[in-house]
Amino acid sequence: MAAVMQSGTPAGGTPADAGGAPHEYQGGFGNQFASEALPGALPRGRNSPQRCAYGLYAEQISGTAFTAPRSHNRRSWMYRLRPGAVHEPFEPIPHPGIVSEFSQALTPPNPLRWSPRPLPAAPTDFLSGWTTLGGHGDPGSQSGCAIHLYAANRSMRDRYFSNSDGELLIVPQLGRLRIATELGVLDLEPLEIGLIPRGLRFRVELPDCRDEGGTLDGARGYICENYGAPFQLPDLGPIGSNGLANPRDFLTPCAAFEDREGSFELVNKFLGGLWSARIGHSPLDVVAWHGNHAPCKYDLRRFNAIGSISFDHPDPSIFLVLQSPSDTPGTDAIDFVIFPPRVLAMENTFRPPWFHRNVASEFMGLIQGVYDAKAEGFLPGGASLHNCMAGHGPDADTFLKASQADTSQPQYIRDTMAFMFETRLPIRTTASALASPELQAGYAQCWQGLRKQFTGRP
Ligand SMILES: [Fe+2]
Repeated sequence: MAAVMQSGTPAGGTPADAGGAPHEYQGGFGNQFASEALPGALPRGRNSPQRCAYGLYAEQISGTAFTAPRSHNRRSWMYRLRPGAVHEPFEPIPHPGIVSEFSQALTPPNPLRWSPRPLPAAPTDFLSGWTTLGGHGDPGSQSGCAIHLYAANRSMRDRYFSNSDGELLIVPQLGRLRIATELGVLDLEPLEIGLIPRGLRFRVELPDCRDEGGTLDGARGYICENYGAPFQLPDLGPIGSNGLANPRDFLTPCAAFEDREGSFELVNKFLGGLWSARIGHSPLDVVAWHGNHAPCKYDLRRFNAIGSISFDHPDPSIFLVLQSPSDTPGTDAIDFVIFPPRVLAMENTFRPPWFHRNVASEFMGLIQGVYDAKAEGFLPGGASLHNCMAGHGPDADTFLKASQADTSQPQYIRDTMAFMFETRLPIRTTASALASPELQAGYAQCWQGLRKQFTGRP
């Protein structure tokens, strides 16, 4: 049974655009939000009064160094029933599906592709349902990332999770997620994404699954666990002040809290491992909060795709939704890129993605429809990995069709949504990803039908 959360409204301001739900979300990316579930719970004009209203405790959560530049500084103040320190000690617990050490398996330079992961047969909640496909770096150095698939069929009811190792970018592919966090509730459906900041406590319900009265056998999707700098909106350069993902379309929840006591589990991911502690109350007990270290969601259908209206097409960086910057200017640690529905108008141009080899590494997933560079084999819920300098591009069928297409007419690409976690450093595959029955043995065959067509004449 879902725990009842008491929810509130934004405090000290009106949301710019709350997507039709002004009492549940606050609009804007990385804003200084303020929200209270009970009137007067949020202190005015100060953060740490001698006594907080309602007998609440004040607690700050910092997502960046205290002294980070103002434009990158992230922290939130929470006013809660009990401080976050009130729980039993953590003990290590196993989780064979999660990998954070990426030097164990031999990563091949071959293009790799996986069919969709089957839904679990045994009871599996969101956290138990993670399987790591690959990653690089190290959570201990707060650098790099891990890429997981999740597949689950049970709500997290009496256990809660937080990730000290990084931020989570969650991409549902099948089934909705209701993510109850310390700072409020995110309702996510496929074609939306959710961002959960480092350290924030939450649990995930699966409202579409049979166990909750829905019709689905399970929920499935993708997770980018970002050990490094938090995702941010990219600068737009010559594009101007609008376009791509517009800030007001990002929605952050209003305060909502559980006043719930019992025997619960608090799981923490720390230095790559999972740790479990008993806790006698719900840690989602924040009655009011303000700040910018906060979860948010974004509807990918709101992405304003921009492309060529003459010839050729830009590099896929034109489809950048969010970036995690590295210490090297202009070189992101991770880019989250989408390939949304769009119109291709370029004349006398090979319109699908061209053949390429990149220094960056590309993990791709498909939420729905067909990706325009692959006629078949890349299925919704599936994945592909084109690591650093791996040659890839349109398959032979796609090349043939696009080479002969009439480009005097626009081409409408509809009902599709592919995405990419593109990383600066190579993605090291896990042993389980390479041994997976979903790994497609014949993937590279899709290019072997590309015959020499050199004529010797111009
Ligand atoms: Fe590519």
